[in-house]
Amino acid sequence: MPPVSIEINYWNFDISLRILLIFEILPILIHPSINIHKPPLMSDIFEKAEQTIAAIAAETPANAEALEAFRIRYLGTKGLVKSLMEEMRQVPNEQKRAYGQLMNTLKQQAEEKYQSLKADFEAQAESAAGQAFDLTAPGEPLPLGSRHPVAVTLNRIVDIFTRMGFSVADGPEIEDDWHNFTAMNTPEDHPARDMQDTFYVVDAPGMLLRTHTSPVQARVMEQRKPPIRIIAPGRVYRNETISTRSHCQFHQVEGLYIDEGVSFADLKQTLLYFAQEMFGATKIRLRPSFFPFTEPSAEMDIWLGTDTEKNYRLTKGTGWLEILGCGMVDPQVLENCGIDARKYSGFAFGMGIERQALRLYEIGDIRLLFENDVRFLRQFSSAM
Ligand code: DAH
Repeated sequence: MPPVSIEINYWNFDISLRILLIFEILPILIHPSINIHKPPLMSDIFEKAEQTIAAIAAETPANAEALEAFRIRYLGTKGLVKSLMEEMRQVPNEQKRAYGQLMNTLKQQAEEKYQSLKADFEAQAESAAGQAFDLTAPGEPLPLGSRHPVAVTLNRIVDIFTRMGFSVADGPEIEDDWHNFTAMNTPEDHPARDMQDTFYVVDAPGMLLRTHTSPVQARVMEQRKPPIRIIAPGRVYRNETISTRSHCQFHQVEGLYIDEGVSFADLKQTLLYFAQEMFGATKIRLRPSFFPFTEPSAEMDIWLGTDTEKNYRLTKGTGWLEILGCGMVDPQVLENCGIDARKYSGFAFGMGIERQALRLYEIGDIRLLFENDVRFLRQFSSAM
């Protein structure tokens, strides 16, 4: 509350007013919430200003909090500087100039002291923060993920085929019956469907989880004109009992090459190159087989030998390990997908990734690849 100063000449009032004043008004005026004081003497005002200047000079705020208290006491909206400035009203005109100069000094000194100490304390706080940050302390470890062994294997396969001029295509994992089976020359009553039982979508008849990557062949052929040279890596599903060697989900890479005059020799050379890039110096063997979508069809084995116990076990004592199915694309499949089978021919192949990953990394159980146990996955952190 700002000080209220009232000048009253008591003797000017008549008696009744005096009584009123003494008993009614004075008690109100001297109530503690009302600050009455006599008009200050000029010398008092000047002295107070000078004392304040001296006090500011003597102040030694030791830290930021003390400095803030200093600011509030002198420079705040209810601070001493402001209240002394307000006294200017009472200073007679001939002294106003001197008082004004005094006020300037006062204000300037308070301001300067505040600003310079503020800068000092800020600099101190900064360097203290700097000291708290130990540049030599070891860093917080960032948990870095690593590639999954299936992804590593898949990337290697994709790499080898893209070097040969194949591009990567893909298709949906929830596939329709046409692309997964019928277009691939496996109509509804075909016995080959029995080998690939899968999961069907209950509320969407005819939709299923694809059993192989072969439907991508059909999708690509429907959309593009030959020459076609693609691989299609991806996840596939089958209604299989889960064991050390089989799972209800796994990965395949499909391959398709369609052009004029593509022969079985092209297929064989492409797969030999792949096998040697993937597994080092090895040889391949093509065994006659059957797939509804290729004619003739074959299964390809790679030579591991029986020198080590592990290879003996993996190849069941024969030295040969089967890694993929392949063949010349059946003309019926070309026709199903709108490609003139009299003009074009081609080869296709499909391989499982997990088996190759198990072999490359000597993993004994396919289930480890899908359990996401970081203790297992961490072992592949250096694999690229
Ligand atoms: N789709 C076959 C499977 O999953 C693998 C396969 C065999 C793909 C021969 C082909 C192929 O493209 O020509 O068992």
